[in-house]
Amino acid sequence: MRAVDIIIRKRDGEELSREEIEFFIDGYTRGEIPDYQASAWAMAVMLRGMNERETTDLTMAMAHSGEMLDLTGVVPIAVDKHSTGGVGDKTTLVVEPIVAACGLPVGKMSGRGLGFSGGTLDKMESIPGYRTNLSREEFIAQLRKEGLVLTGQSGDLAPADGKLYALRDVTGTVPSIPLIASSIMSKKIAGGAQAIVLDVKIGLGAFMADLGEGRKLAHLMVAIGALSGRKVIALLSDMNQPLGNAVGNALELREALDTLRGNGPEDFREHCLVAASYMLVIGRKAANLESARTMAEAALESSRALASFRRLVQAQGGDVRYVDEPDRLPAAPLIETVTAPRAGYLLGINAREVGETSVELGAGRARKEDSIDHAVGIVIHHKVGDFVEGGEDLFTIHANNAAKLAAAKERLLAAHQWSTEPAPALPLFYDVIG
Ligand code: URA
Repeated sequence: MRAVDIIIRKRDGEELSREEIEFFIDGYTRGEIPDYQASAWAMAVMLRGMNERETTDLTMAMAHSGEMLDLTGVVPIAVDKHSTGGVGDKTTLVVEPIVAACGLPVGKMSGRGLGFSGGTLDKMESIPGYRTNLSREEFIAQLRKEGLVLTGQSGDLAPADGKLYALRDVTGTVPSIPLIASSIMSKKIAGGAQAIVLDVKIGLGAFMADLGEGRKLAHLMVAIGALSGRKVIALLSDMNQPLGNAVGNALELREALDTLRGNGPEDFREHCLVAASYMLVIGRKAANLESARTMAEAALESSRALASFRRLVQAQGGDVRYVDEPDRLPAAPLIETVTAPRAGYLLGINAREVGETSVELGAGRARKEDSIDHAVGIVIHHKVGDFVEGGEDLFTIHANNAAKLAAAKERLLAAHQWSTEPAPALPLFYDVIG
């Protein structure tokens, strides 16, 4: 078999066999197939597509390119949740403790912020001492003992994806549905997941702006799950406006803690309860969505979910005083609340603009090696559809520098779109697939 023949076959729109896909991924992972051939192949896949069978074979080849975590015998069923990334998406910080408090163990490997979208690990690291680099042994031991882990991805899971993703990033081949689906699913499968709730974000502040494309991605990942013997449910959720109110690491953590204490923004709380309910169903802890919802609400209202979060922080070396007294969390030196310049209905709050502004304030990275400021960010005070009086609080900026604060203010004012006519609220979810 030769790499060039596989590239040619895909270039000409032919279906690749499992052997060809395995040969290509194996050769690429081992450095025998060079980047220039992998680039040509990725572009051929991007332009010609792949069917469900090919995409599943690609997913499994990438999953098997490194270590495969086997959680059988550690937990009755390994459940996972994955968000395709958004702005203000601190869902994991609340959903995982709810699910664990309902008696369903959950071990999760999360990522860092990418572009304008935030990352769970960065949020958790607002707590001094919290470790996000657990070894495989530590991961398994903590999952057994505490039923709850939240750490970074171990270095050797799906290395083919790491290599290919970096190449796609610089060759214009990121927005390919089969390549995205296999990238996400290979990491989940290598991490041992048997049942997965996918939160596919759609909108201005998401990877996918178009509902039709998001639907295709969701269907494909559900199909990969079925063909590889994993149960997958995909929620299609809105990401045109930020989720909840807070954007920025410590601010989001604080909002998650508020929610775990029974408060928090209504949209965020609802989003978490829905995601947790699906996890409880696919994890076979609840017979149906209705009883799952009752369990999830009870875990939140009884503070058992908060107690789970506290246990998680303690188990991973974090200082629990920051959970008990969130006022200890890093705070920015400059805090300014900006009021509405006019009265009207909010027609849009551009999530991408809010996310990018937060990155510019220092909450995210322009380059992988950049350090971040956990304290900075934005709190939005309204949702799309709200009527706001002129002079009412619109948003609060948490900054570490006056020039950045001034720039953020202009950008955020422009990110709010107004109407004199009543504007419809945005849905939380568009569909559920699987
Ligand atoms: N997230 C991933 O993990 N992979 C992609 O290709 C896109 C988003």
